[in-house]
Amino acid sequence: MKVLLVGSGGREDALAWALSNSAKLTTLRCAPGNGGTARHAENLAIGAEDVDALVRHAVEERYDLVVVGPEAPLVAGLADRLADEGIAVFGPAADAAQLEGSKIFSKLFMQRHSIPTADFQVFSDPGEARAYLESPDTRYPLVVKADGLAAGKGVILADDRETAVTAAEGMLSGRDFGDAGRKILIEEMLRGREASFFVLSDGRRFVELATCQDYKRAHDGDTGLNTGGMGTYSPSAWLDDATRQTLLEKVVRPTIDGMAAEGMPYRGVLYTGVMLTAEGPKVLEFNARFGDPETQVLMPRLDGDWLDLLDRAARGELGDVEPAWKNEAAVCVVMAAGGYPGSYGKGFKIEGLERAEASGAVVFHAGTRRENDDYVTSGGRVLGVTALGVDLDSARRNAYAAVGEIRWDDEHHRNDIALDAVQRRDR
Ligand code: AMP
Ligand code: GLY
Repeated sequence: MKVLLVGSGGREDALAWALSNSAKLTTLRCAPGNGGTARHAENLAIGAEDVDALVRHAVEERYDLVVVGPEAPLVAGLADRLADEGIAVFGPAADAAQLEGSKIFSKLFMQRHSIPTADFQVFSDPGEARAYLESPDTRYPLVVKADGLAAGKGVILADDRETAVTAAEGMLSGRDFGDAGRKILIEEMLRGREASFFVLSDGRRFVELATCQDYKRAHDGDTGLNTGGMGTYSPSAWLDDATRQTLLEKVVRPTIDGMAAEGMPYRGVLYTGVMLTAEGPKVLEFNARFGDPETQVLMPRLDGDWLDLLDRAARGELGDVEPAWKNEAAVCVVMAAGGYPGSYGKGFKIEGLERAEASGAVVFHAGTRRENDDYVTSGGRVLGVTALGVDLDSARRNAYAAVGEIRWDDEHHRNDIALDAVQRRDR
């Protein structure tokens, strides 16, 4: 099969690695890819959000399948445009991608289908939002969210009135997130542990993927700023069988059925972020894509062919496939630029990649570029170092042993990825 992969992050390098392991693959190209994807694919100079150029290229080259990594081109209608041209695409159509692209769409959908989520109100008028936030009946803390895509920055946890009013006004005036903030949600603050849950759907049927857990804060002990994700492990220590069953019955089944019933069948990966509350799991958000760096632990754990699985989902033909997972656990440690998620330097030479991979780990590239015979840093999250092991403890040791082989000036990583899970099992 001839496949085009869209995106440029660590997620896409993990997808490129997985697709290149398939016996069905003949050609893999990546638009635009990164230093790492060039090992498995031919990188193209087409940006992941340049929908017109992607469609033109895909039509000229008649790909058998286009796999879309990030959400923005999906929300912009890339899957619809490719489908119109008769090209199979892994990733939902624009109407279905609204589950991620519009937080208000997603909340109203959950309300229609009785899917458990935080209580909420919708506002577009600054005066009404202010009146609500200043009402003596409104309880704090609460959460203020921009409706549209805001590069992961459109959610403000507000402990007090002043923070909430400032956030709401910044959003509704268009100042903070442009049009993405002209409508907002004000939500009840949920308490508990966060978890992510992934299924693959062909529009009607779905299959559960392996569970995994990510670490969003920049520093050890869940301190520091929120990032895109500093590490992951799989399987999750917190999503037990009962919780998984609840999620399948109360969240995933009604979502896939509801989207189909409303004429927006959901094809692709549905990534549900949940809060495990005392009242059971409640949905924080839906994403229309694989997680990053969740993909870096999911890909190596499949005991099977990812290309076959993604292709079946894309064609609406999952049939009765049941993905099998290796018994081994996986841990991914993200190595980032010092300063990330704030400002950071680029262009540092990376050393020790070969030694790290010789240890059996897989080093996925997120922000690297090739310069002569070297790889140099070119982004905030630079590498995702993934290792398998007979259990989480051993996967963790293997991953950190490989991390220890790699260095560049100003490198930063967390030392406690999967540590809470290992300690929990020990107790
Ligand atoms: P979202 O993009 O909606 O998932 O929000 C980003 C992050 O904000 C989540 O991963 C949570 O950590 C936090 N968050 C969002 N909504 C809530 C909520 N209702 N209660 C508590 N935390 C929340
Ligand atoms: N790791 C979080 C995300 O991909 O959104």
